[in-house]
Order: sequence, then structure tokens, then C-alpha cells
Amino acid sequence: MDRIRIIGGAELQGTIPISGAKNAALPLMIASLLTEEEVVLENVPRLADVMQLKRILSNLGVDIAVRGRRHGETEDDGETLRINAKNIIDTTAPYELVSTMRASFWVIAPLVARMGHAKVSLPGGCAIGTRPVDFLLNVLEALGATIEIEAGYVISTARHGLKGGHIVFPKVSVGATHTALMAASLAEGETLIENAAREPEVKDLADLLIKMGAKIEGAGTSTITITGVSSLHGATHAVIPDRIETGTYAIAVAMAGGDIVLQNTRTDLLESAFDTLRAAGAEVETVANGVRIARNGNGILPVDVTTEPFPGFPTDLQAQFMALATRGQGTSKIRETIFENRFMHVQELARLGARVRLDGDTAYVDGIERLKGAPVMATDLRASVSLVIAGLAAEGETIVNRIYHLDRGFERLEHKLGRCGARIERISG
Ligand code: UD1
Repeated sequence: MDRIRIIGGAELQGTIPISGAKNAALPLMIASLLTEEEVVLENVPRLADVMQLKRILSNLGVDIAVRGRRHGETEDDGETLRINAKNIIDTTAPYELVSTMRASFWVIAPLVARMGHAKVSLPGGCAIGTRPVDFLLNVLEALGATIEIEAGYVISTARHGLKGGHIVFPKVSVGATHTALMAASLAEGETLIENAAREPEVKDLADLLIKMGAKIEGAGTSTITITGVSSLHGATHAVIPDRIETGTYAIAVAMAGGDIVLQNTRTDLLESAFDTLRAAGAEVETVANGVRIARNGNGILPVDVTTEPFPGFPTDLQAQFMALATRGQGTSKIRETIFENRFMHVQELARLGARVRLDGDTAYVDGIERLKGAPVMATDLRASVSLVIAGLAAEGETIVNRIYHLDRGFERLEHKLGRCGARIERISG
């Protein structure tokens, strides 16, 4: 199993290209199941989760071709996928394929909407709490589908198609909103979604669906109205920049010190996280096609963070901010309100000397001058990158084990950081 080796203490200087968003690319790829025509997706990141979804879609009969590299393009440019779901040969997504990635469960919505049937294994993914799918199943039922659970599979049927309905989510859910958008786009009549997720990835999915002929109003707000159409057509769409990757490298600069331009990204995608970074003492400045982050000389100030649905502070940056707070000049308070078990990185950060006290959904982090390198273990996707961030500023050698989590969500992380002066390498085997 591959590991990452880091020798801490080097400042970061230079530029880091930001990839397309994993959390947008996945639902966009899944949305291609809604049409018989070709969907072309540009700026798709090369990640293990994208590969896994390619396998799941291929297994359903979807043809996926990767367009060859064009003159002037480098490995920093995302992939262009040509996806054609004309001939769906199977409406089953098996356990072996779905169990490693929770988002793959979302194929249930376009399959039921277009084919009238789906059998999808209950999902797996990062072990960060119970992560049920009840809201997603309620969406399908609200639009007239039947749901049965049998031997770990959800079987959903709508023989005569879906019908518009009224959906009020009890809690904001990104996946349930994606599911509702896809299902309602091909349902007969109007669907009203209340308490919808406002995440930029939801807006990105709606933008693609609209290009495909869907009638959607209000995406990006809490209330979305969809007027169903009988069929959707092909479209071309570029995936938005990855705001979590952006925030992660921004935090890495705040942690290690230095001056970096993050390219091909947008500050409006994560204003709350940048506000917190400024409060921690980093300089954050919008530049052409990106953002510049610097921390030169001054120390890291303690932060007070509560995770919330967008536009609040993202849960997917909580672990990274905790790594930063371990070196704060005082006590930081970090409250996790989205997932109940998302503090598994605490014990690993403690191996580097971090002082963190947990009290229910809140972590109190007493900053210390220096972390000390140690072997640590990645437990989930975002937690694993928090250990890399900690290692960048720890004295001596940090080895991050089990980095397959990292490869699910961060494209060529060791290259991107290494080019900027970090002493980081992948050890294979
Ligand atoms: C997505 C993101 C993930 C991010 C999360 C929250 C992708 C691929 N993943 O995950 O990186 O951390 O949003 O921003 O985009 N819930 C239920 N029942 C449901 C669905 C969700 O109770 O049927 C709960 C969850 O347990 C959680 C909360 O709702 O407490 C939010 O989860 P949700 O927004 O659905 O997360 P995902 O879409 O799985």
C-alpha cells in the first residue's frame, strides 16, 4: 500500500493548479444517464472516485471515452469525457462497485426517472457517521416511485414514469438535492423542493441539466422549482473548480508559511473558509483566475469554526483547519454540525503532538509551537489530507499510511505540493 513521506519545515512558494471539483464531476457524470445523447464533460479530475464511477456507469451499458490531449495541454488540464448512455443494458448497481463510494448511490435517480427501474446497493464511502439515505428514498417516493429494500439493495420502480411532487427536506442534504433535481427533471409536471442544498456543486448540476433541456428555477437557493420534460438531450459542460482542494492548499500555505497562487479557481466558492483563514493570520487576495495566499513571518491565530451547509464553513475543510489550529497561538474551538463522527483525525493528530480535547460535537485545540513528525494513518478522505498539512509543519519525518483515501479526492497531491518546495514523496508498495 502506498504511503506519503513528508519532511516538515519547508515554506511553500509558487503556483498550484486547482482541478475540477470531484463533488461536481460525480453528479454530472451520473446525470448523463438521463439522456440517450452524448454528454461531454470538461475539466474532470483524474481521481480514484471518478475511475470508480466510470466502472459503475460502464457496467450499466454507458460508453465513456476520454478525449486525447490537445496541443498545449498538460497534466494540469483536466480530462474531457464523452459519455453516451444510449444503450442502458442493466439497471443494477452492484455492491462490489457501489460499496466504496457513497455518491454512486445517486445513480438510482436517473435510472428510475428514465428506465422506470433501478436496483442499487446501499452505499459505503468514508466512515464519517451513519450517513443514511432516507432523504433520497423519500424523494423517489414523493415523485411516485415504489421502494423496497432486499438483501442490502434498494429496488425502486416507477413503471409509468415519475410524477412531480412537493419535497421538503428536514435537513439540508447535498446528495438528496442532486437526486431530486435529476429525478424531477424527467418527471411529469412540476416539483417544488424546499430546504434544498445551496452548494455550488448543486448549482453546477442544475446548470448542466438546463443545458440538456431541463426546466429548473432557483438552483443555488433553498427553493427550487422543476417543470419536468419528456426527454433531455446532449450537452457540453466544464466542471467547476474544486473548492475543497482550493481550501486545502490555502490552509497548507497558512500552516507551512510562504506565498502561493492557486490557479483556475474562484474565491466566491468558499468565502467563509477564506474569512476564517484571514482570521488565522493568512493573507488572502483574489487575483486573475485564482487566489493568492500568503503567511510570511507572523504566527497562526486561534480560530472559532462551526461547520454548516453552504454558504457556511464546509465540513470537508474541518479536519484541515484543525491541523492548522494545532499550531495556533491559543485555543481554537471547532464545532462539527454536519456529521456526528467526523473527528477521527484527532487521535492521529495527537500522534504528532497535537493537544485536542473533544466534548460532544466540539473540539478544543490548544495550539503548540511545534508538532513532531510520526507515522500516522489516514482514516477518511479529508482527514488524510489534514495529516499531510500537519506533516508539512512538523519537525522531522511524517509518514502517512493508507493513502488510498487521499487518491479518492486529491489529484497528484505530492506533485502539486512538491513543485512548491514541500519535501514530500510517495513511497510505493
Ligand atoms: C456531500 C459531499 C461530502 C460533504 C457533504 C456535506 C459529495 C460526493 N459528497 O455528501 O463531501 O461532506 O455533502 O457537505 O458531494 N442525511 C440524512 N439522510 C439522507 C442524506 C443525508 O440524514 O438521506 C444527513 C447526513 O447524515 C448528514 C447530512 O444529512 O448529517 C448532510 O449530508 P449530505 O449533504 O447528504 O452529504 P452527502 O451528499 O453524502
